Amino acid sequence: MEPTRSAAWTPTGPNLVVHADNADYLPSLPDGAFTLIYVDPPFNTGRRQLRQSTTSVRVADGEGDRVGFKGVSYSTLRGALRSYDDAFDDYWGFLEPRLREAWRLLADDGTLYVHLDYREVHYAKVMLDTIFGRESFLNEIVWAYDFGGRSKNRWPAKHDNILVYVKNPAAYHFDAAEVDREPYMAPGLVTPEKAALGKLPTDVWWHTIVSPTGREKTGYPTQKPLGVLRRIISASSRPGDWVLDFFAGSGTAGAAASQLGRRFVCVDANEEAVHVMGERLGEHAAVVRP
Ligand SMILES: C[S@@+](CC[C@H](N)C(=O)[O-])C[C@H]1O[C@@H](n2cnc3c(N)ncnc32)[C@H](O)[C@@H]1O
Repeated sequence: MEPTRSAAWTPTGPNLVVHADNADYLPSLPDGAFTLIYVDPPFNTGRRQLRQSTTSVRVADGEGDRVGFKGVSYSTLRGALRSYDDAFDDYWGFLEPRLREAWRLLADDGTLYVHLDYREVHYAKVMLDTIFGRESFLNEIVWAYDFGGRSKNRWPAKHDNILVYVKNPAAYHFDAAEVDREPYMAPGLVTPEKAALGKLPTDVWWHTIVSPTGREKTGYPTQKPLGVLRRIISASSRPGDWVLDFFAGSGTAGAAASQLGRRFVCVDANEEAVHVMGERLGEHAAVVRP
């Protein structure tokens, strides 16, 4: 597709690969435009803090503060957590305004998937409960893999966590019939018909990492497997829906969306990521540098 100078998204426009800090770009997108948002944010890298006033805030009372976990106000909860963990303060300061934008950008039937590792998932869960409301929490998916060395002094950590939140618990889209099925562990214990059909995946997904020598490999260091993204996109969007990834890296979400007939916007602040996405998705998207 021809490169274009305009980064303005429209519902009938092309798929976009956007080279920008997501904090600058997301406010240009309209409310409710995306059925699915997947993000795989970096952990513990240089972070630009955002002023909270630059983002929209969902409020539950007249004082601009949301009442969240066990009725504790959002600012009280945040203050308490900040007081004992500087790293959390930094993490929250970076991620929270961007996840608020995710809430704003989701359609009423939309779903957010946040891909995290075991060190950060608990903080992010509390944060997302306060932004979306606990009733909007749908799942914690454990993506289990087997790769690399094994620690001898604790249980080797071989999984990532993906938190799933829906915009509206009464209206979200989820189509189990579209999800790839898995072989039964003991196929002899079910009928041959059931064994042939396979079973629906649970919230624990065994999937190999991107093979360092396989065809899928782009060379981008934090690339996630297409199979994981295909499953997410199949279940939580329909053909033609818009998918957003604003920590896009090598563009795995865009690649899976394109394969499945969805439209996509992939945003990354890193020139190398945009280069990789240009190679991977350039035929299917306009690469823009606002
Ligand atoms: C863990 S990687 C994502 C990998 C991706 N899921 C894939 O499959 O390739 C996180 C990405 O977030 C990008 N990033 C970090 N801060 C950003 C920001 N403020 N705005 C946009 N992208 C950012 C990094 O450049 C990096 O490519």
